[in-house]
Amino acid sequence: MSLLTTITKSRVWRSFFRHGWPDNPLDRSLVMTTNVFFHLHPVKVNLKSLKFAYSLGLGVLTLLSFLSLAVSGTVLMFYYVPSIEHAFTNIVSLQTLVPYGQLLRNLHRWGAHLMVLTAVLHMARVFYTGAYKPPREFNWVVGVVLLVLTLGASFTGYLLPWDQLAYWAITVGTSIASYEPMMGATIKNILLGGPEVGQASLTRFYALHIMIIPAFLALLISLHLWRVRKDGGLAATDNQ
Ligand code: HEM
Repeated sequence: MSLLTTITKSRVWRSFFRHGWPDNPLDRSLVMTTNVFFHLHPVKVNLKSLKFAYSLGLGVLTLLSFLSLAVSGTVLMFYYVPSIEHAFTNIVSLQTLVPYGQLLRNLHRWGAHLMVLTAVLHMARVFYTGAYKPPREFNWVVGVVLLVLTLGASFTGYLLPWDQLAYWAITVGTSIASYEPMMGATIKNILLGGPEVGQASLTRFYALHIMIIPAFLALLISLHLWRVRKDGGLAATDNQ
């Protein structure tokens, strides 16, 4: 018995890797299905779908921006106070007094712009390659909800610095929402927590921004990636 065979048949090896050396179709499939990271991929994919030129890596880039925003946002939470008295001075001192504070804020701000941009480009790529067609129509709908949530995260984050730009952007944004025919006034009231922009609005936008929207994004991104896997990988065919 060769050394390689002895190692791959040993109990220690088998306790980590639940398959033999991947030199046959069965073990190659088991490599994919028994590893939590590889498991995200289907056992077989079209070679074309692995080419960068097919997907342009835009979905992965959107995912990476989301993860980096989660990290930079968590660090920002150590400093930021969601109070109409303190939020603005808080942001100013973060940028001027805290070491790397400006970098941290810019990472979060530019990361947010990048995520919106890559999500829109990713959607355009999916449309261009016809990947929204059955059996992937459900994942397209999940994607549309993800895009709305991504825009929602940007919008709610915009209010948090409590500067003039933020204040008036939210005033205008929620006024637009109030023109919704049936429930406009109620939607505006729910968003602002009262008739005008104030502490209740900041508290609500903060809760939406740091907890509710990211939780739904994380849940739906997991569903989205699981669907990519269950739909047999990316839609690429040889004649695309
Ligand atoms: C938070 C936003 C999103 C993330 C993190 C995300 C992530 C991904 C990833 C990683 C993939 C596989 C690799 C790739 O295509 O680059 C993918 C595929 C896909 N996404 Fe998204 N996506 C998002 C938004 C959207 C949007 C807005 C749509 C469309 C409305 C969409 C529809 C699809 C579809 C249909 C596929 C399968 C593509 C194919 O089979 O070629 N996604 N997504």
